Amino acid sequence: MSKIRLRAIKKRKDNGRRKMREIIDVNLKARKVDFIECQTELLAVGLFSDAKRLDKVNEQLNKKLAGAIERVIELGDFKGKAGSTTVIYSSGQIGAKRLILAGLGEKKKATLDTLRKAAANVANKAVGMKLGKVSLALHRAFGGRFGFAAMAGSIAEGTHFGCYRYDEFVTADENSRPDLVEVELIDNNTAQVRDLRKGILPGDIIGKAQSYARTLSNRPANVINPDKLADAAKELAKKSENLSCTVLDEKQIAAKGMGGVLAVGSGSQNKPRFIVLKYSPSGKAAGRLPTVGLVGKAITFDSGGISIKPAAKMDQMKLDKSGGIAVLGAVKATAELGLPINVYGIIPAAENMPSGTSYRPGDIITTFSGKTVEVQNTDAEGRMILCDGLSYAVEQNCDVIIDIATLTGACMVALGKYMAGLMGNDNKLLKQLQRAADDSGEKVWPMPSSEEYAEEMKSKIADLKNIGSRWGGACTAAAFLRQFAKDKKWAHLDIAGMEVFEKSTEFAMQGASGFGVRLLTSYLMNVAKKKA
Ligand code: BES
Ligand code: MN
Ligand code: ZN
Repeated sequence: MSKIRLRAIKKRKDNGRRKMREIIDVNLKARKVDFIECQTELLAVGLFSDAKRLDKVNEQLNKKLAGAIERVIELGDFKGKAGSTTVIYSSGQIGAKRLILAGLGEKKKATLDTLRKAAANVANKAVGMKLGKVSLALHRAFGGRFGFAAMAGSIAEGTHFGCYRYDEFVTADENSRPDLVEVELIDNNTAQVRDLRKGILPGDIIGKAQSYARTLSNRPANVINPDKLADAAKELAKKSENLSCTVLDEKQIAAKGMGGVLAVGSGSQNKPRFIVLKYSPSGKAAGRLPTVGLVGKAITFDSGGISIKPAAKMDQMKLDKSGGIAVLGAVKATAELGLPINVYGIIPAAENMPSGTSYRPGDIITTFSGKTVEVQNTDAEGRMILCDGLSYAVEQNCDVIIDIATLTGACMVALGKYMAGLMGNDNKLLKQLQRAADDSGEKVWPMPSSEEYAEEMKSKIADLKNIGSRWGGACTAAAFLRQFAKDKKWAHLDIAGMEVFEKSTEFAMQGASGFGVRLLTSYLMNVAKKKA
């Protein structure tokens, strides 16, 4: 027996049971230090592809490194292309052991998201190299262009994003990586360091919330079912005195008349839950502040039910809870930011499975609103649970209701995997969400949900049916939902395709993306700032 095997056995004996890997801890700070002197494992600087010459900081570093930066550029090994990186090793000429050049693309096209992605890219490389300490001077290339606090926020979000790994079930040691990465944003100017520090705070909270969402989404359906998801929500609520959590079990769901959630959940042994998180800020002014209802689809596994899906890639349907989890993440961030706004996180959760107790094609379901729905396809289950969630938000008298869901393959066909579909009944709200998309780098594109589409969702034998014709599936789905928002300001985000990276990229590990956490939180921050 090899030594390694012996050690493995010993470890198991010591622990009784192997401890699951936690997600990589990211510790973010800002520090005033000279760029040349900065002692670190890895120093990151940014370069634009169309820059005529090196900026001041890069020029200084280049000089100390005997022209090494110029050389990689001259050799054509680094062109400043967005997403590209090159590592240069120093031998004591500068404080950093390694310098990483991060490409920022064309200067005039650069946005805060360029910075967010560059930070993610560098963080991803640092984790790949198993480095525990990284210093970022990425913002320097931009001068003061977006403001130092805003730049720090984006960098902080990007750092969390790039450091993220999902490996809690990987027991093999080859997959070892740092448990903690210390990241500092550095500048040699006191005022700018102060601004960077200010900006890190919200970025750190939002970045953490997104990683939290990614882990919950990545967990498979045998680990997370509706009840386990409810436990996660309760856990969140325990951590903040401004959060409360109510969970309805299957009996309470039935008693309330939430026929949609009940029907979708009826085929599984894992019973449905209706999860409600309520956030109210401290102080007595809460009653006068606006109330936003976020409604997220949480199908912990979507087999299609009796209208069963094909086998290929069905495993990915563990991610069909991502809308609900984006809501969890946004509520977590809202509470930690202490935003002056009331928020309901409404998460209908069910597992869509085929069995003798499943709902069937042909069934007529009475939803929480009182409207009846003829089920024509059990795989169109998202709208069946969301309609009850929307009605609940209406009942709570939310001023604004936003739902988010991996709702239709049709949305992916229409928009690909770069933008989420955005529908709604209020132009101002749509504009606000468009703006939140610009701020957060989580993109959306407007799509219709008007009367023509709603017409297709009428049933001959009930008020509605749950599928439309072959065409415009994302729009007919939205038109179905629209009717449950009544006269409230409502928007719908179809995030099908956005919830997952099918392959690892230079800035993200494959798997759940946490899409929506940044978008929703940006929207809420803007509302709280009243400039939305
Ligand atoms: N969860 C799926 C939509 C989906 C598909 C999300 C692929 C992510 C990737 C949804 O419940 C579904 O099955 N929708 C059907 C609707 C149809 C039956 C009207 C679809 O898109 O095919
Ligand atoms: Mn489905
Ligand atoms: Zn689904």
